[in-house]
Amino acid sequence: MSYPTAVEAELARRRRSPLGRIVRLLILLWGVVFLLAIILLATVAGRFMSSGPTVYADIDDHFRFGSIGAETASGLPYRVWKALPFLFPEHFDGRKDYSTFGFLYEDDRDLPIGISERTQQGVDLVWFNCAVCHTGRYRLEERGDPHLASGMPANTLDLGKFTQMVIDVSGDPKLAPEPLMAAMEEAGVGLDPLDKIIWRFAVFPRLREGLLDRAARLRPLLARQPDWNPGRVDTFNPYKVLEFDIAASELDETEVVGASDFPSIFLQGPREGMQLHWDGNNDSLAERNLSAALGAGVTPETVDHASIERVAAWLSDFEPPASPHRPDPEAVVRGRELYMDKCAACHGYQGSEGYVFEGAKLGTVELIGEIGTDPARLDSYTKAFSDLQKEKLFAGTPHAFRRFRKTDGYANAPLDGLWLRGPYLHNGSVPTLADLLEAPENRPATFLRGGDVIDGNGGFVSPACEPDMPNCFDTRLPGNSNSGHVYGVGLDATAKADLLAYLLTF
Ligand code: HEC
Ligand code: HEC
Repeated sequence: MSYPTAVEAELARRRRSPLGRIVRLLILLWGVVFLLAIILLATVAGRFMSSGPTVYADIDDHFRFGSIGAETASGLPYRVWKALPFLFPEHFDGRKDYSTFGFLYEDDRDLPIGISERTQQGVDLVWFNCAVCHTGRYRLEERGDPHLASGMPANTLDLGKFTQMVIDVSGDPKLAPEPLMAAMEEAGVGLDPLDKIIWRFAVFPRLREGLLDRAARLRPLLARQPDWNPGRVDTFNPYKVLEFDIAASELDETEVVGASDFPSIFLQGPREGMQLHWDGNNDSLAERNLSAALGAGVTPETVDHASIERVAAWLSDFEPPASPHRPDPEAVVRGRELYMDKCAACHGYQGSEGYVFEGAKLGTVELIGEIGTDPARLDSYTKAFSDLQKEKLFAGTPHAFRRFRKTDGYANAPLDGLWLRGPYLHNGSVPTLADLLEAPENRPATFLRGGDVIDGNGGFVSPACEPDMPNCFDTRLPGNSNSGHVYGVGLDATAKADLLAYLLTF
């Protein structure tokens, strides 16, 4: 047995003394507070530091729901996306989803096709990918089952109406933390107490600022344009005001209207080297894919090149679904002969084994004076804008744009998947293929866009309409002319029926 030394005895005395006990208690308390603070910090940091997209193994799922990097710069928090229909039922026709704008929903998925998810510093963000504009819906008959087709134009999507809604709600006093959090609860995506604090100080102010800024740029642009209507978007003017800080009021009268039809994007591989986009302003497939991503809201800082390349590789040999039309086979044979004579040099042709991408003028630009269609989309893509694209976007990286150029007409493009591509021409001004074979003055002056029922004349059933009706496309408005492309209009009725029969097999 050993006795305590003098020092040990003194320490033991202090531990027993009231002062010593208080000091020890304080140390313990401080330790507990310190530990709690660490846990709290770790929780907050954990929430704020997690970043990355939701990943899909299946390639069609990746196309429809995978991120291309647009969420960070252009997106909305997922919870806000979910809450808006509850907060602003007046903009959603009382629906609890985005179907009123023509967004398409697959089975019972929560987000529509073309809306992807990415977590950025702990906040779940959503925004566009390629499929939002490049996936559509068709029915073989009125009230028939809906079919979704990746790669066809988003015929039902009204991006103009959606953009106007975002502009309208950003200035609405209801878009404030309290009502928004209540709407999130209602939508089943409420915030927990810690998130509420984080959102109040970090997320809401940034959201509101971002929305107001975007609204201030886009509102005056949309005010200068006719409605885009479903299935169309202005390709380059929003880009000018959002990316290049050009005020909409400064855009020239000749360039300010540029709404164009969503194109189909099947079989991109054989299109390498062709001058494409409606006006043929770029002959590099990689650049067309990348510039398309910018249109979706990606920026050079946020772009997900790997994701886009995955989509691009898939689109390279992605075939359109076979045409369901069953025209008279003999008429098809006669029509094919007419087509080979009058059309194939510019467009290539449909062979028995699929589309044949051959033609002396295929993938070149037809002068506007020759083709005679509406010049607005061509004029909206200016030399000045083309220079900005090359100077500013991805400059100094291997992705810098080099192949964009100002052209003087519209492109002679392949016509694969034609049955899904109505309404026709770059501005979607002609509802059916039969109408395109009529002289411009005999083509419908007005028709409803946004239909998805396949029409026996090619395209979708598109009844005539009064200009003030929703989705009514008026060919007399700027950018909407159905003039030009008079190939085949001089044929007699039988020959036109034969040509149409063949076109219905594309
Ligand atoms: C906001 C709608 C929108 C989104 C999102 C979008 N596109 Fe497009 N895309 C268009 C429009 C409109 C055009 C026609 C542009 C023009 O010439 O005016 C187009 C053209 C194209 C073309 C050229 C078609 C041709 O034959 O001329 C390709 C290829 C393409 N897009 C691929 C993509 C890919 C890949 C993505 C995703 C990375 C994407 N797009 C995202 C609307 C969109
Ligand atoms: C000299 C070249 C040329 C010839 C010949 C030609 N086209 Fe075209 N075609 C074009 C161009 C250019 C466009 C795009 C015009 C536009 O959108 O403004 C076009 C567009 C089309 C479209 C619309 C495609 C879409 O996705 O909206 C169809 C359909 C079409 N042509 C069918 C025909 C048929 C059928 C013939 C023969 C009777 C024919 N073309 C002859 C150059 C030609």
